[in-house]
Amino acid sequence: MSASTIRFVLNGEIVETDVIDPTRTVLQFLREDFALKGTKEGCAEGDCGACTIVVVEIDRSGNDIDLKTVNACIQFLPTIDGKELITVEGLPGENGDLHPVQQAMVDNHGSQCGFCTPGFIMSLFALYRANSEPSRQEIDDALAGNLCRCTGYQPIIAAARSMSSMADEWNPREHLDALKSVARQDSFEVEHNGRRFYAPSDIATLAALFVKHPDATLLAGGTDVGLWVTKQHRELETIIYTARVAEMLSVEETDTHLEIGGAVSLTHAIPAIVGQYPGLSELFRRFASPPIRNAGTLGGNIANGSPIGDSMPALMVLDASLVLRQGDSERELPLGDFYHDYQVDDLQSGEFVTRIRIPLAQDGVLVGSQKWSKRFDQDISAVCTAYRLELDGDRVSDFRMACGGMAATIRRATNCEKTITGSVWTEATIDKACAALAEDFAPISDMRASADIRLVAVQNLLRRFWLETTGEVSETVYTYGR
Ligand SMILES: Cc1cc2nc3c(=O)[nH]c(=O)nc-3n(C[C@H](O)[C@H](O)[C@H](O)COP(=O)(O)OP(=O)(O)OC[C@H]3O[C@@H](n4cnc5c(N)ncnc54)[C@H](O)[C@@H]3O)c2cc1C
Ligand code: FES
Ligand code: FES
Repeated sequence: MSASTIRFVLNGEIVETDVIDPTRTVLQFLREDFALKGTKEGCAEGDCGACTIVVVEIDRSGNDIDLKTVNACIQFLPTIDGKELITVEGLPGENGDLHPVQQAMVDNHGSQCGFCTPGFIMSLFALYRANSEPSRQEIDDALAGNLCRCTGYQPIIAAARSMSSMADEWNPREHLDALKSVARQDSFEVEHNGRRFYAPSDIATLAALFVKHPDATLLAGGTDVGLWVTKQHRELETIIYTARVAEMLSVEETDTHLEIGGAVSLTHAIPAIVGQYPGLSELFRRFASPPIRNAGTLGGNIANGSPIGDSMPALMVLDASLVLRQGDSERELPLGDFYHDYQVDDLQSGEFVTRIRIPLAQDGVLVGSQKWSKRFDQDISAVCTAYRLELDGDRVSDFRMACGGMAATIRRATNCEKTITGSVWTEATIDKACAALAEDFAPISDMRASADIRLVAVQNLLRRFWLETTGEVSETVYTYGR
């Protein structure tokens, strides 16, 4: 395992470069080494979308390509080895004609100061490739990670609506062939000034490396770790990258479970989960933005262990478990037993999450989740709830509820659950359950919400869930600020 250089395709050209710092971002590299200044830095934390680029990879079948947006500002350079990057400069045709997406933005006056424009163009380009006739909701969802302070969004949405009237020169075969020419199957490592970036390609090598370097930082999508560098200026001495490990990248359905590899991106994990549990679709639709979901993983969300992480309340009520590996040993642990305290979990030295096991849906069981945040798109939850309800007639045979944003860790609302399980599913039961929630949680105040408001919010969310099950309110009332 060795390499001091990485190789990738950049706007159609093969690039081979020495990695001078394993935590140098793709954005720094594009702007400083290649003078590709179209890709901007707005926030350096994945929030504004000014740095959005497109990454193309060979897909899991090996015969096709996978195209996605990512935030260049929080992606470390070595993670793009073997991939293709497309920036706004790579979009015009061979004779210099604007790409249909660019032309549509011009025609619809979608740009004013222009700072956000390349990021919007790249998000629209990915949408154009995926779906030539997007609906309004698909356009809004595709642009959830892009902020504009000048135009308002209407001209940009108009551009998205008209872009499909023109064809471009895209040839997937060309991209697949170029990717094959830079593909690397084996593990590699990059070293600079004593700082190391390991990129194993199989799970045994990953496990052995982490036992040997237990203080290393595991890196998956980098949507949390990237900010440790760009915002907290932390020096990461040793990084072990999990997202090239084949065994960590599979999504499988057994007779009883969904098994999601620890490095599977949210974009790939979500359809499998929502396929089983459609009641979680709104939650995952509002999880960050497409570029963050394209890079970020379910495993990273769980292991990061934020008390306001969005996937864990739902996974907890579903009784999901984690398959953990340390060296050659594996063990399975219920997610409910994983968190001990704020940022303290059950992972032992050199141990990591290889798979997330989620029980398959059962007939007659209702699963739902609600995310309450200041903004509709691209915002961290103030409170996040999840429910699993099993009724026997009008009596509750089993009720589970878990909450984020209410304690130092995501956890179940045990008093509330006890109050509801065995009772009749009526408003009077919900009244008692709301009182029990006050015993379950003593939330803190922070910039997202005060303690009092959090408690009232979680009680109201439970009432809302009850109302939804009785058909008194429709399930989706969320509205856009656009
Ligand atoms: C703009 C923005 C918006 C966001 N919005 C949301 C949101 O709406 N909801 C939400 O919940 N989160 C959100 N996040 C947080 C983040 O995107 C998620 O937590 C994401 O799932 C992290 O996954 P990752 O692969 O990027 O993790 P990484 O950053 O790669 O790693 C996160 C942590 O997990 C550890 N880790 C990674 N993989 C493993 C493994 N297999 N075993 C053990 N440890 C491992 C890493 O060492 C690190 O400590 C947002 C982040 C940003 C930047
Ligand atoms: S610079 Fe804002 S998302 Fe990257
Ligand atoms: S055009 Fe100025 S920020 Fe969007």
